[in-house]
Amino acid sequence: MTSITLSLSTALDAGSVQAQADEKHWRAARERLVAEHLIPQGISDSATLTAMRAVPRHEFVPPDQRPYAYEDTPLPIGNEQTISQPVVVALMTQLVRPRPGMRVLEVGTGSGYQAAVLAETGARVWTIEIFRTLAEAARRRLARLGYGGVTVRHGDGYAGWPDKAPFDAIVVTAGADSIPPALIQQLAPGGRLVMPVGDPLLDQELVLIEKDAGGRVVSRRLLPVRFVPLLRGVR
Ligand SMILES: C[S@@+](CC[C@H](N)C(=O)[O-])C[C@H]1O[C@@H](n2cnc3c(N)ncnc32)[C@H](O)[C@@H]1O
Repeated sequence: MTSITLSLSTALDAGSVQAQADEKHWRAARERLVAEHLIPQGISDSATLTAMRAVPRHEFVPPDQRPYAYEDTPLPIGNEQTISQPVVVALMTQLVRPRPGMRVLEVGTGSGYQAAVLAETGARVWTIEIFRTLAEAARRRLARLGYGGVTVRHGDGYAGWPDKAPFDAIVVTAGADSIPPALIQQLAPGGRLVMPVGDPLLDQELVLIEKDAGGRVVSRRLLPVRFVPLLRGVR
């Protein structure tokens, strides 16, 4: 009896030592990503960098992609969709300046990673995904990882989320020819919206929309990007 108890507790100890070593390994990988890719490419907002250091991207990719989780590259997540490149996630986060208590809408939940980064800043996040399988997997993953401030909905984000509007920030992680009018309407005065606009294969650019206190909208084209297309009709 004593020996069974001892070997069980030894196995448990070995398991927790391994878990601690893994956590240390992933934390160091995130630090390298921040120091070697994000800061050199112009990410400077401290809330964004803190969030990028905290969110475990390896938990948001399929098991066979885990070795590449902290490379600065998009990775496949199923349904011909991708988790975005970390520097792009960080840039979109920095551009909308999420802060504690802000209300943020994301269109294109995918793995849930961008939503987790936004939530890590203390913002409340509502996120919509057009593929049911991706939406359900992201909802389970975010709950398991403790991101209670994120609400996931399966649906077509083209129409935004009228019941929860207005939003202080809107992040669209799929590209279209133009910005859906409903999203501009659902942006609060003083709010910021970021979205890839243009032909997904040719000339997509990241566009930042700012709505002033009087409701006037100013749009700026920032840099060339390549995102998957914004789809229509739930799947
Ligand atoms: C580049 S991936 C997003 C990556 C995601 N933000 C992440 O962190 O993993 C774009 C996502 O937008 C979704 N999508 C495309 N059109 C959509 C729409 N109309 N409404 C909601 N989601 C859409 C795709 O299914 C895909 O998961």
